[in-house]
Amino acid sequence: MGLDLLGGLAPREFLARHWQKRPLVVRGAVPGFRGAATPRELFAIAGRDDAESRLVSRSRGRWHLRHGPFAARTLAAMPRRGWTLLVQGVNEFLPAADALMRRFAFVPYARLDDVMASYAVPGGGVGPHFDSYDVFLLQGLGRRRWRIGAQRDRTLDPRAPLRVLARFRPEAEWILEPGDMLYLPPRYAHEGVALDECTTWSIGFRAPSATEYARGFLGFLADRLDLAGRYADPDLAPQHHPAEIGSAMVERVAAMLAGVRWRRADIEAFLGEFLSEPKPRVVFDPPRSPLGPARFAAAVRRRGVRLDLRTIMLFRGAHVYVNGERAPMPRGTRHALVALADRRALAPAEVDTPLLPLLHVWYRAGYLHPGPPA
Ligand code: SIN
Ligand code: CO
Repeated sequence: MGLDLLGGLAPREFLARHWQKRPLVVRGAVPGFRGAATPRELFAIAGRDDAESRLVSRSRGRWHLRHGPFAARTLAAMPRRGWTLLVQGVNEFLPAADALMRRFAFVPYARLDDVMASYAVPGGGVGPHFDSYDVFLLQGLGRRRWRIGAQRDRTLDPRAPLRVLARFRPEAEWILEPGDMLYLPPRYAHEGVALDECTTWSIGFRAPSATEYARGFLGFLADRLDLAGRYADPDLAPQHHPAEIGSAMVERVAAMLAGVRWRRADIEAFLGEFLSEPKPRVVFDPPRSPLGPARFAAAVRRRGVRLDLRTIMLFRGAHVYVNGERAPMPRGTRHALVALADRRALAPAEVDTPLLPLLHVWYRAGYLHPGPPA
């Protein structure tokens, strides 16, 4: 990785000094960057019903929010000032946005969320707010003025249809030009206002709350639960109120529930499945007339293989996790599977025979494709 991205800081230094701690502005983080797509390409994605897009505008002092998909003519009819279009998950559609996101691989993929692109006309923005996650805001086309502040007051404006701070007290200000980047730790107040027609590319991370993790894990356990025994009360005695839930019953059920146990391996399996689960909007497209195992093997031996842009692949120990599904690594495949998960593609020479059955299953699900990286 070039040192440009973090302004001359080595990733280790960046993580120690800034990550989750303090903002950083990097001039020329991605020299020559003008966005991973043109505004027109972004509008086309905002018109898709498998993309998540929002239109935010401000008129006569009030905020307005609309959810996509947006027809091209809707966007063409918008005024010349004061609005912005936000498109979530553009890395699922644009190889260049995925490649951009992978430049931040000094943070584990398990922490990555997605790339959100915004297009704004002069004066456009989403207002002063804070996010719960770390974010790198990379300027594509045009200029944007950022103001940020470390304020503790996070009261939101109750009248706004989006999360806008009721009181914003900025402490620093920068005008970012194409290729410049601002890193913000979670919960840092910020506001970006477009000075020109501009695009901003936000590389965002995920940090589920303790409740989200616990809810996910309890669901995971529930799917696998198989406790021995059934409620029994051979010592039942008459009770004064038949409607009362008796103490003996409470004790017995408490003893049964104490049988719910989990091990470290369950937490690992849960994490792999939970963190590799695609977003609800994601739908894979399996090949319409899939190659059989022999022709698939010939194709990947000739052209290599690459993960679909929507695929999330992680590993831990002897298991791989692909799009919420767990698979044990077949004997002799660890090296190649780790390479595929890290680099998201394998060259023809890396496709070993023991790997082929698993790759073929994933190919038929639409999770990967024969061929070099797009
Ligand atoms: C934007 O790109 O306009 C919004 C990004 C953010 O403030 O999180
Ligand atoms: Co933000």
